[in-house]
Amino acid sequence: MRTMKLGNSTLQAPVVAVGCMRINSLDKTQAEAFVQTALEEGANFFDHADVYGGGTCEEIFSEAIHMNDDIRERIILQSKCGIRKGMFDFSKEHILESVDGSLKRLKTDYLDILLLHRPDALVEPEEVAQAFDILESSGKVRHFGVSNQNPMQMQLLKKSVKQPIVANQLQLSITNASMISSGINVNMENDPAVNRDGSVLDYCRLNDITIQPWSPFQFGFFEGVFIGNDKFPELNQKIDEIAAKYEVSNTTIAIAWLLRHPARMQPVTGTMNTGRLQDCCKASDVHLTREEWYGIYRAAGNKLP
Ligand SMILES: NC(=O)c1ccc[n+]([C@@H]2O[C@H](COP(=O)([O-])OP(=O)(O)OC[C@H]3O[C@@H](n4cnc5c(N)ncnc54)[C@H](OP(=O)(O)O)[C@@H]3O)[C@@H](O)[C@H]2O)c1
Repeated sequence: MRTMKLGNSTLQAPVVAVGCMRINSLDKTQAEAFVQTALEEGANFFDHADVYGGGTCEEIFSEAIHMNDDIRERIILQSKCGIRKGMFDFSKEHILESVDGSLKRLKTDYLDILLLHRPDALVEPEEVAQAFDILESSGKVRHFGVSNQNPMQMQLLKKSVKQPIVANQLQLSITNASMISSGINVNMENDPAVNRDGSVLDYCRLNDITIQPWSPFQFGFFEGVFIGNDKFPELNQKIDEIAAKYEVSNTTIAIAWLLRHPARMQPVTGTMNTGRLQDCCKASDVHLTREEWYGIYRAAGNKLP
């Protein structure tokens, strides 16, 4: 597995991250096999959140990996906070409480990265800064980032927060690529020109913030997987054609498409199938040509101006 620096930090991370939101669908033996496969593939970066499975995903993971000091040093753990029932909460108290809960469930005394999960309308940047300072000085969190935030929201945080934002986790897949399309269609009078995110892609590139595409295989908001889906015949035909050329699976090509973008993204996979996880990891070795990248983009129904 290729590695890269996360954001502007010195943390060397695999280019494919393993999302653990669905790990509670596995039994103990399956979960053990899943994390073992990930480690064998060099996919030692695991993405969590305090809310996944109501906390059970972090617990199942730490049991499955048989967490101890030796294992802990070999893996990179990221978790998120800020989503609560019926609200978002970036208050100092909630951030600190959430991290303590994650550390307990993950059976560790530090997170490599903490992300603020979804923008809180009532955010007070000064409070976030206080929480981050406490977490950093106590050694509980080493790096900080955000998720689902636009450039101005990150700028607002930066007013008070002194730690660099190393990552922004955002929904992005071949079929959910509006952040790419708005850049291609600047100033056009068509739907793809609509800039929904304040040019977050360019902002992250300019500021060395690693984009972590979440749901890399979904279309819509968890409507389903586009791979092998009759709703996307042209896209699947194109992906299959390119997969045959590289002698890899269609799953590999979907991840390779994200990795080909020069923003140096780190896709977060969601599969709990060990074979598919291996296919996702293989994308690390596939470098699509410009023609292939645009061919896939167009086959998904995106038109060039
Ligand atoms: N920051 C946020 O707001 C946010 C939101 C959502 C998710 N996330 C993170 O992103 C991760 C990924 O999200 P996701 O689970 O929605 O991602 P995904 O990889 O797009 O979807 C995974 C789901 O698709 C299924 N699938 C079917 N065919 C597949 C194929 N050919 N290749 C891959 N998967 C296929 C998987 O089933 P099998 O298990 O049977 O393969 C699994 O149920 C999560 O685990 C979480 O860590 C973050």
